[in-house]
Amino acid sequence: MMSGVMRLLLSACVLVTAALLLVGASSASPEGSVLESAQPTEREGLARLVGTCTKCHEDVCKEWEGTLHAQSWTDPVFQAAIAELADKGESCAPCHAPQELMLQGMGKLPLPRKNDREVGVNCVTCHMKGNRYLGPYDSTGHGGVDADDGYRKADMCLSCHGQPQARAEHDQGTSYLAGTAAKEGRTCQSCHMPAVQRKLVTSPTIKEKYTIGEQACRVHAFSGARRGVVVRGAAELKANFKGDNVEVVLTALTGHALPATEGRTVRLRIAFSDATGTSVGQAYQAWRHGNEALPATGPVTLSFPAANAAKAHLILEQELPKAPGRVEALVQSIAELEITR
Ligand code: HEC
Ligand code: HEC
Ligand code: HEC
Ligand code: HEC
Ligand code: HEC
Repeated sequence: MMSGVMRLLLSACVLVTAALLLVGASSASPEGSVLESAQPTEREGLARLVGTCTKCHEDVCKEWEGTLHAQSWTDPVFQAAIAELADKGESCAPCHAPQELMLQGMGKLPLPRKNDREVGVNCVTCHMKGNRYLGPYDSTGHGGVDADDGYRKADMCLSCHGQPQARAEHDQGTSYLAGTAAKEGRTCQSCHMPAVQRKLVTSPTIKEKYTIGEQACRVHAFSGARRGVVVRGAAELKANFKGDNVEVVLTALTGHALPATEGRTVRLRIAFSDATGTSVGQAYQAWRHGNEALPATGPVTLSFPAANAAKAHLILEQELPKAPGRVEALVQSIAELEITR
């Protein structure tokens, strides 16, 4: 059971060590120097390698399979977008079909990949560099995993989600770094990879060999609005009558600007009525990605004329419009409130 892969990796490791001995490298980061020279060559058989992880890390693999990371190349919305482009998406590949991101380093834009684009942003992209495995702990699997604290930090995600010069439409990083969540030490992982207590290894034949019991792990479902999971409660909505107006205070709770990305519209709809419940008017305001988004830096106060009203019903929602590859528009409620004078 301990398998082709492990043995294969083991022999590859032996080769690396042998190469090191030959050049007599004794300096600080021996493995770095070997891997740098390996960098221009792409990994063969990537899809097959990614397929093997599930044998021992079934939970994580199941979660990942349902995400847009797994579909970052095959996603119909993405495919529709690149069909229009002269380069057929080559310029998109650094993030939508990347090589191992640690080749460039955490927080840096990855290199594009030619092979096996259909496996998207996968286990190997985030956890391997050449023949080494990397993760948040220095666990005993794979002949020793290289622990890197960066896995617990936003840097990891900023490689692709925080490169405004490469793709401003898909940047959550800039607003995150300026926002209150970052100042309070909350990372992307703390909201998009919830903590869970479980074993790193789910294989019934393998896990007995490792004495580490359940430990603090992270769900790999990377929930987002496209799958409707985290939108409710993404902002706080407060409102009060003040003289002839309704004063509304909105606070994005996203850690980054809201909406988080291109296309989406966040809107506030207010329906005013008098004491008998008869409609006396309405108000509307919208926010979009970029300069017109709700900021991550704290509350925004708005005022709407409401002289004739005794009641106001407020709805805050996000719409993902119909788009090539997305047949239906998706309207999701963020918060709702009713106030009386
Ligand atoms: C987009 C990058 C990314 C992808 C893709 C990814 N991981 Fe992770 N993984 C992480 C991060 C970040 C952590 C650590 C989170 C923390 O501890 O805060 C992690 C943690 C882990 C851990 C340690 C235990 C845990 O849950 O914290 C294992 C094992 C793991 N990943 C396996 C996998 C496997 C197998 C796949 C493919 C199905 C995969 N990962 C895909 C980023 C990724
Ligand atoms: C033959 C079983 C097996 C396979 C297949 C396997 N792993 Fe592992 N993996 C382990 C074991 C065992 C550990 C260590 C568990 C422990 O120490 O608790 C581990 C730990 C890890 C960690 C550790 C996290 C950390 O921070 O220490 C990561 C990341 C990881 N594996 C990624 C992968 C990826 C990516 C693949 C597929 C390319 C993969 N594994 C395939 C057995 C396996
Ligand atoms: C190597 C590039 C890369 C890295 C690193 C990366 N992402 Fe992504 N992420 C993407 C791409 C590309 C998409 C969108 C794919 C699409 O919609 O076509 C995406 C989508 C997402 C989504 C929406 C997922 C869904 O299924 O709705 C979330 C949330 C997300 N990423 C969070 C994170 C977090 C948190 C991290 C860090 C732990 C991270 N990403 C690291 C490239 C990356
Ligand atoms: C710097 C990295 C990067 C580059 C380059 C990049 N993207 Fe993305 N893209 C992302 C990330 C990260 C996401 C997920 C977060 C988001 O939607 O902002 C994403 C999401 C998407 C989505 C899904 C949007 C949705 O509505 O859910 C589409 C479509 C897309 N990208 C198209 C493209 C196209 C086309 C290109 C090339 C012209 C491209 N991207 C280049 C990082 C990148
Ligand atoms: C305080 C919690 C929190 C933090 C921190 C946070 N997010 Fe989010 N994020 C959310 C919520 C809630 C949403 C849903 C609202 C929305 O989709 O606009 C969201 C939406 C997203 C989306 C859009 C998904 C979609 O399909 O529209 C992406 C991509 C994303 N976050 C990536 C990141 C990255 C990358 C970081 C770190 C730089 C990060 N987030 C930090 C809570 C958080």
